[in-house]
Amino acid sequence: MLKVGLIGIGFMGRGHLENYLKLESEGYPIRLTAICDIDENKFNNIFVPGNIDIGNKKYDFSKYNLYTDIDEMLEKENLDYVDIALPTYLHAEASIKALNKGIHVLCEKPMALNVEECKAMIDASEKNNKKLMIAQCLRFFPQYEYLKECVETKRFGRVTGAYFFRGGATPKWSYNNWLLKKEISGGALLDQHIHDVDTINWIFGVPKAVSTIGANVIPGSGYDIVSTRYIYDGNSVITAEDDWTLNGDYGFQMLFRVNFERGNIIFEKGKLTVNPNDGESFNPDLPAEDGYYREIKYFIDSILNDKPIDIVSPYSTMETIRIAQAEMESAEKKGEKVHL
Ligand SMILES: NC(=O)c1ccc[n+]([C@@H]2O[C@H](COP(=O)([O-])OP(=O)(O)OC[C@H]3O[C@@H](n4cnc5c(N)ncnc54)[C@H](O)[C@@H]3O)[C@@H](O)[C@H]2O)c1
Repeated sequence: MLKVGLIGIGFMGRGHLENYLKLESEGYPIRLTAICDIDENKFNNIFVPGNIDIGNKKYDFSKYNLYTDIDEMLEKENLDYVDIALPTYLHAEASIKALNKGIHVLCEKPMALNVEECKAMIDASEKNNKKLMIAQCLRFFPQYEYLKECVETKRFGRVTGAYFFRGGATPKWSYNNWLLKKEISGGALLDQHIHDVDTINWIFGVPKAVSTIGANVIPGSGYDIVSTRYIYDGNSVITAEDDWTLNGDYGFQMLFRVNFERGNIIFEKGKLTVNPNDGESFNPDLPAEDGYYREIKYFIDSILNDKPIDIVSPYSTMETIRIAQAEMESAEKKGEKVHL
């Protein structure tokens, strides 16, 4: 039975809590024993809604050992792993503390604010021989897994073009509004667009160069709108865009359209459609569970069976941060190519 501590019970932490409740109810050999959050309001079920609907449920926090201080929780609890859903500027510090106490770490994306912090996290994981996994959830979303498989097997031939987008309303729920402070969140580029950067890194590898145009709309928040071209050898056109200033009724969207020599794959409004050039369109049968549930399960299984974190190795997620940093540099230079 693995004992789990959840650190940060804001928007994403609550999503993780839901998955622990589900996994426990399914008889998985885990027990969420402790929760830490600096803001005690959360333990009274006072929350601000986020951009993905995770309901408005009231939780029974009396079942858990509750802390407002991370060090105290790590000191007093005998945990097998911590699940970190803290603001990005605390990812490296909190992960390293837990790893140095001999506790495995599952940490939310983006891995950290820069490559130096990522390296320090990997060093702590290796020095203590404890697992570190970054919750780049799209690597566990069935639609993105399907796409990766088609690219790798060349089922529809070579990729000729790929377009990824995510965006929606400006996030206004975060603790002390940290998400809209460039220095501690990295703006939409590092916080939201990072999902597509990671997908492109995971499926196509690190590009030779990037060219990014970015715009700031909200004072102090960094790049709120970004558009990047990823340059590889060969002639595929690979682009990703993000905009977190699409307010009003737009809601939140993540989508892709990927074109191959012999067909295309479109993911829009939650539906994956395959359009072969020489046959009928179809919607592939995919696992019902979402990526959030599947990533946590994968991490638990890797601890229980002492298996490496192959699908989302920390070296690979560090490369994702390196690409995002190159995009920031390119945006600063008004779209000039930055080589990796
Ligand atoms: N995978 C996804 O789709 C996804 C979606 C949203 C957010 N995230 C990531 O999850 C992380 C958290 O984002 P969020 O939207 O939940 O933010 P949030 O502000 O809603 O939650 C952060 C929580 O951390 C707590 N906290 C802040 N400082 C603390 C400290 N020193 N000690 C203990 N608790 C502290 C806050 O009180 C808050 O409850 C970020 O890294 C974000 O990028 C991932």
